[in-house]
Amino acid sequence: MVKFDFENSSINERMISEYEEFVQKNHALLHENPDDENKFLGWINLPEKYDREEFERIKKAAKKIRSDSDVLIVIGIGGSYLGARAVIESLTDCFYNMLPSKKRNSPMIIYAGNNLSPNYLNDLMNLIGEKDISLNVISKSGTTTEPAIAFRILREAIESKYGLEEAKKRIYVTTDKEKGALKGLATSEQYETFVIPDNIGGRFSVLTAVGLLPIATAGIDIDKLMQGARDAREKYLDPSVKFNDCYKYAVIRNLLYNSGKKIEILANYEPQLHYFTEWWKQLYGESEGKDGKGIFPAGVDLTTDLHSMGQYIQDGERHLFETVLCVETPKSDIDITEDDENVDGLNYLVGKTLDYVNKKAMEGTIQAHVSGNVPNIMIKIDTLDEENIGHLIYFFEKACAMSGMILDVNPFNQPGVEEYKKNMFKLLEKPGY
Ligand code: PA5
Repeated sequence: MVKFDFENSSINERMISEYEEFVQKNHALLHENPDDENKFLGWINLPEKYDREEFERIKKAAKKIRSDSDVLIVIGIGGSYLGARAVIESLTDCFYNMLPSKKRNSPMIIYAGNNLSPNYLNDLMNLIGEKDISLNVISKSGTTTEPAIAFRILREAIESKYGLEEAKKRIYVTTDKEKGALKGLATSEQYETFVIPDNIGGRFSVLTAVGLLPIATAGIDIDKLMQGARDAREKYLDPSVKFNDCYKYAVIRNLLYNSGKKIEILANYEPQLHYFTEWWKQLYGESEGKDGKGIFPAGVDLTTDLHSMGQYIQDGERHLFETVLCVETPKSDIDITEDDENVDGLNYLVGKTLDYVNKKAMEGTIQAHVSGNVPNIMIKIDTLDEENIGHLIYFFEKACAMSGMILDVNPFNQPGVEEYKKNMFKLLEKPGY
C-alpha cells in the first residue's frame, strides 16, 4: 500500500490542475504503442507483459546458484546493477552479507564492475578466497568498460578455480538479444543468457532479468515483486492528474523546480533504503539532467545525515525540497526499558519503542524543514515488502517519464554519459579515438 501526501509541499490542487490537459495528452503518448523499439517504453506494460518462459528460467538459474554458490558476484554499472542492489538491500537483513551462511540461507551478493579501483577488485577476490562463486555479468550494450574489465578479471579467476567447463556453468550473462561484445562472448562460450528487451533502457530495467536474477538469488519472491508492480500499473493508469498520484508527484516537483527549488532530496529513515535512493537518483538524474535543465536528485539517510547534511538542509541556500520515503511499520521493533540509575536521562522514553522515537524524529524534522522553507512531499508504504517495493519502482518510473516530459527533455536517453568515455578512451589510446 503506497500513500502520497503533498500537504506540506506548498503546492495545491488548483496549481496541479493547470497541468491537466498536458498530462492527459502525454499520458496518451506514453501509452500509445509502447512496444515500439525506438520509444523505450517497454517498462510501461512490463509487469503484465513479460516473457514468462524467461521468468521461469530466471527462477531456475537462481535456484541453481543458491544451491552451488556461497557468493554471487553481480557485475554491472548504473542501470545494470542499481535496481538489483536497491531491491536486495531493501528486502534483506541489514547485515545480509555478514550473516553466517546457515542463517542467511542464500549466497552473499557482491557487486563488481561499478568502478575501476584495483583495491576494490583485489579486496573482493581476497574476500571470496575459497568460497564457491557464480558470476552474473549484466550489460545492455555489452561494451561498457567498467563491467567488461571486471568480467575479464573475474572470468579468469573463476576459470582457473574451476576449469573451463565448470566455470561456464557458473557464468550467467544478461545482455542484448543480439548486439555487443558480451553477447558474442556468451554465444561462443555457451553461457546461460538472459535478454534485456530492446525497448527498455538500463535505468528502467530492474524488473527484467537485469534485476530479477540477482534478486531471486537473494531469496526474494520475484512473483510478489512483479505483483506489486502490476498493482501499481493498474493504479496509475488514470490519465487525469487529479486521480493519479504518480502524475501528481511529477507535476509537483516541476512546479517546485520552476519556483527555484532546483534540488530534490529523497530522505529515508531506514538504512535498508540507502540503495533504493541510489537507484532513484540514477533514474531521475540520468532521465532529466539534460539540455541545461533538470532537478538535481540528492539523497539522505536519516537520522544519520541530520548530523552531516542537516545544517545545510535547514539553513543553507533555499533551493531544496524534500521527498520523504516513510516505512510506517518496521519489520521488528525494540522496547526502551527502564534504567534504575537513569544516568543517560532516557527514562522519559520508557514504554516507548525505538520506532516511535524514529517516527517522532521524522515528524520533528519535517516540521523544521517545512518551516525552514524546504517543501515536503511524503510517500508512505506500510511495510518493506516485495509488493510495496515493486509498487514504488513502478510509481517512480512512471512519474519520471511524465516529469521529463513536463521538463521538455527526452527522459529515455543519456547523451551526456558518453563525454567522459570519449576522453577516457582517447587518454587510454583506444583504437579509433
Ligand atoms: O540507465 C542507463 O542506461 C545506464 O546507466 C546504463 O545502465 C549504464 O551506463 C550501463 O550500461 P550497460 O548496461 O550498457 O553496460
